[in-house]
Amino acid sequence: MFESTLVRTESDERLARSLTEISGYRDTGRDGWSREVFSDPYRVSRSMVARTMSGAGLEVHRDGAGNIIGRLPGSNPLAPPLVSGSHTDTVDGGGRFDGIVGVMGAIEAARSIRESGSRLTRDLLVVDFLGEESNEFGLSCLGSRSIAGQLDAADLARTNGAGDTLGGRYASFGLDPDEVIRSVWPSARRPHAFVELHIEQGPTLETNKLPLGIVTAITGIERMVATFAGAADHAGTTSMTDRVDAMVAAAEAVLAVRREACGAPNHAVATTTALESASHSTNVVPSRIRMLSEVRSVDGEWLRGVRGRLTREILLKARETGVEVDFDWSTDNDVIPAHRGIQDVMAQAIDASGLPWMALPSGATHDAAHLASIAPMGMLFVPSRGGKSHCPEEWSDLKDISTGVAALAQTLMKLDQLEPTR
Ligand code: HGY
Ligand code: MN
Ligand code: MN
Repeated sequence: MFESTLVRTESDERLARSLTEISGYRDTGRDGWSREVFSDPYRVSRSMVARTMSGAGLEVHRDGAGNIIGRLPGSNPLAPPLVSGSHTDTVDGGGRFDGIVGVMGAIEAARSIRESGSRLTRDLLVVDFLGEESNEFGLSCLGSRSIAGQLDAADLARTNGAGDTLGGRYASFGLDPDEVIRSVWPSARRPHAFVELHIEQGPTLETNKLPLGIVTAITGIERMVATFAGAADHAGTTSMTDRVDAMVAAAEAVLAVRREACGAPNHAVATTTALESASHSTNVVPSRIRMLSEVRSVDGEWLRGVRGRLTREILLKARETGVEVDFDWSTDNDVIPAHRGIQDVMAQAIDASGLPWMALPSGATHDAAHLASIAPMGMLFVPSRGGKSHCPEEWSDLKDISTGVAALAQTLMKLDQLEPTR
């Protein structure tokens, strides 16, 4: 995976090994390096993550929500802990770095702190959060939502297209759905700080030739499932003006979603990723279409208006041809600012290393968006080649990853000494 000509430290060697090894746990019947939550490759890969944590000298346990937590004990176990981590599940057809860099990197940072001989005051918890990627139930960041107390019975009752529930999927993965909800971290053990190392998944750092980014905010996401109800009719005998064609109304809606983002006053993006039709033969006028879309922006004010604007526009257009529309909107997460104090500590740590960096927002969401509800949150980015992610071409250089790990370790050691800030 990484060319062996590079002059590498022992730490680089370990990172190269762990990133290469985990990428081997993939669904070979799918494109890229697919290791979706609840899949068999994902299930098997969890023991490799636990093994890597214990190999780094961490005490490992799994909580009731399927998170894997490695602990580096501090000298004062009663002090609110430092937490770092990310996810090792991928999207279908995904790459080898999204999330994985944050888990293997945090393990390596914890090991380097332990081996440096400087004992932290606070425990350092390294977490591989279960199921960060969005899934067939339309809910991302499963493990971090549990920890933050943001996963409830209604979420477990969510169904996929085949009518399976999320709770049932947890049970088939060997987790007790009740325990999943009860795995919230008690307020007495709320973290002192949470810092996530992640690939940028965009082109900004590479374009600016910078090795590190300090995240200012995580984008908000509004998700829409719209169901278009038309009328099935014979495709050969029904005139174009007599049709109540659900697919045509959905196609108009796809363009409305795109216009919404393109017309935003500040940066916004929107994606429609599926139109699922109830009929599968071209001799039937489509009667029922399920449309999956999302809109993202770090402009919270504008994002809060998206539901109203799009609902009105889509309904108006659909009703011109008699198609009815039912909307299921959900906020995957609001715009989440990174903690100012943590950004400053990161900047000091990186400045001390003499490396350049820049501040930038995250167009992707992360487990950090949920940890931010129980702890001061910060994120560090390393460059993505060509800005590509969520695809087999996803790549980050080992040199950049180890630079990110060093910055993470320095940031954690600095935060360890600081008084709690809210
Ligand atoms: O969807 C996201 O932004 C993240 O990569 N899960
Ligand atoms: Mn990710
Ligand atoms: Mn992702």
